[in-house]
Amino acid sequence: MALLAAVAGCGVPPEVEVACSDLQQTFTDELFTPVISKTCVSCHNPDGVAQATRMVYPVGITAAEAYPIFRKMAQVKSQGEPLVLLKPSGQMSHAGGTVFAKDSMTYAQFESVVSGMSRCGTQ
Ligand code: HEC
Repeated sequence: MALLAAVAGCGVPPEVEVACSDLQQTFTDELFTPVISKTCVSCHNPDGVAQATRMVYPVGITAAEAYPIFRKMAQVKSQGEPLVLLKPSGQMSHAGGTVFAKDSMTYAQFESVVSGMSRCGTQ
């Protein structure tokens, strides 16, 4: 993987710029497999409490199928910040509560993929 550590903050996980060609694989390895498929999908599924939201993952969905669903949600912002970062980190009210903290490695991984999605266009 061609990852480039851009900024190493103090106690905050480093921001990592994901190469466009690695974006979908990074989504699979760092977002979908450990977090989305295990946690988010438990509510964000067609029968779950988040069934009426813009991010619904059918049960048994693959990472490749989930990618465009997440990508679409990642484009929705509030005051310039994507809801997929604001809501699960508790910076904006979320019925699912705080799933990961803003200073967590998971947040940094979500942020890297989300910023890659806007930087890389349609990949
Ligand atoms: C315990 C259930 C639950 C979990 C777990 C959960 N959510 Fe949610 N989420 C909800 C509900 C219910 C809503 C709709 C009400 C609201 O916006 O708070 C929602 C709304 C959202 C929205 C806004 C959707 C829209 O259409 O505006 C986003 C983005 C979101 N969640 C992301 C996530 C992510 C990412 C995860 C996993 C890291 C996650 N949620 C985990 C219940 C959950």
